[in-house]
Amino acid sequence: MKKIAGSFLLIVFTFALSVHVKYLSNIFGISCFPQCRIKKQDRSNGSGEPEPRPLSFQRNVFFVETSQRTNFSFLFTCSVESAARAHPNSNVTLFMRGLPGADAGSGWPRSFAVSILSTFPNVRLKPLDLAELFSNTPLHGWYARLNQSQERYLFPVLSDACRLALMYKFGGVYLDTDVIVLRNLMNFTNALGLQSSHLVNGAFLAFQPKDEFMGLCLQDFVDHYQGNVWGHQGPNLLTRVLEWWCGISTLASCRGVTVLREEAFYPIPYQNWKVYFRTEHGSLLKRLQKTSYAVHIWNKMSAGSGTRMKVGSNVLLERLFAEYCPSTYSHLRKQADRNKDVKIN
Ligand SMILES: *[C@@H]1O[C@H](CO)[C@@H](O)[C@H](O)[C@H]1NC(C)=O
Ligand SMILES: *[C@@H]1O[C@H](CO)[C@@H](O)[C@H](O)[C@H]1NC(C)=O
Ligand SMILES: *[C@@H]1O[C@H](CO)[C@@H](O)[C@H](O)[C@H]1NC(C)=O
Ligand SMILES: *[C@@H]1O[C@H](CO)[C@@H](O)[C@H](O)[C@H]1NC(C)=O
Ligand SMILES: *[C@@H]1O[C@H](CO)[C@@H](O)[C@H](O)[C@H]1NC(C)=O
Repeated sequence: MKKIAGSFLLIVFTFALSVHVKYLSNIFGISCFPQCRIKKQDRSNGSGEPEPRPLSFQRNVFFVETSQRTNFSFLFTCSVESAARAHPNSNVTLFMRGLPGADAGSGWPRSFAVSILSTFPNVRLKPLDLAELFSNTPLHGWYARLNQSQERYLFPVLSDACRLALMYKFGGVYLDTDVIVLRNLMNFTNALGLQSSHLVNGAFLAFQPKDEFMGLCLQDFVDHYQGNVWGHQGPNLLTRVLEWWCGISTLASCRGVTVLREEAFYPIPYQNWKVYFRTEHGSLLKRLQKTSYAVHIWNKMSAGSGTRMKVGSNVLLERLFAEYCPSTYSHLRKQADRNKDVKIN
């Protein structure tokens, strides 16, 4: 009797698995994730062996561009290049709203960024279909009602929504396009980083698909949506859901969610963003290489103030470019003569 019930459960499980894989594969027209290759008979050969690792979608890194632009800045290109170099065995997918149609291969726009990124075999550009990404999540109804022309912070808000939906549906690593990756991030699961003692940030997220915490974040997004408040759906959302999840106001790892210290991803607080544009003699860079996995450049601060980078000045940002995105850096150097200021974002 037990044996029959067991086989029945196994059949149900196998069926559920194939539906799940089919469902995921349909989104964005992705033909198949690597995990699709898991052989079903391995699960139903009756050996009773435990699965060494269940469905794991951690092998992918995601970036998102929610505006229509396709001519990316040096910093943006550097960010994707650094992720591609740090994860040679992962697909680094850049979802872009400005890519027409589903046939991304032939639709690649021509720009220096695309020509650099296309030299990395693990970088993929895919069209971003928001309605499809938000389908079967709480964001579906919110997006259907959204009047985009009335949104004060449309692109940031869409970007906040996209990262939660990507993590929930696919799992993997999400990165903002102003993060420079210093080390491989694949060991992180269900993790995010502190930007200060009282705030977590979503420029880096690493979650498994269908994670309960991410599910709560999606629900909070629609339940407490306030488009006019900067960051309300971003760091503030992650922070309030985490506080509720942990039942405490001191932010720390709890209930399966890992909260990483500031140095891991935000070693330089946004108030000190100018440090990236100061000449670096080596000790700060060495410290970052020792204690950080990636650095968030706070694009909004430097772009908003029109800050440029002087080529050959050896500011911290230039040293990071030279080391972690040498292809972008070499292009930048060709574009700008020594001692010229370059717009990097
Ligand atoms: C069943 O699958 C397991 C792992 O997938 C494998 O090690 C084992 O040899 C298989 N047994 C049979 C009888 O095919
Ligand atoms: C991209 O193009 C837009 C419009 O043509 C322009 O305003 C912007 O500065 C360009 N950005 C970059 C990084 O070249
Ligand atoms: C990357 O994506 C391609 C197709 O999009 C797929 O064939 C390949 O297996 C993927 N590789 C990894 C490591 O995920
Ligand atoms: C969206 O907002 C614009 C500008 O306020 C308005 O003209 C338009 O009618 C609105 N669209 C819908 C579908 O409500
Ligand atoms: C990931 O974790 C494994 C096991 O703890 C360790 O051996 C490996 O070096 C780690 N990889 C990276 C890139 O940190």
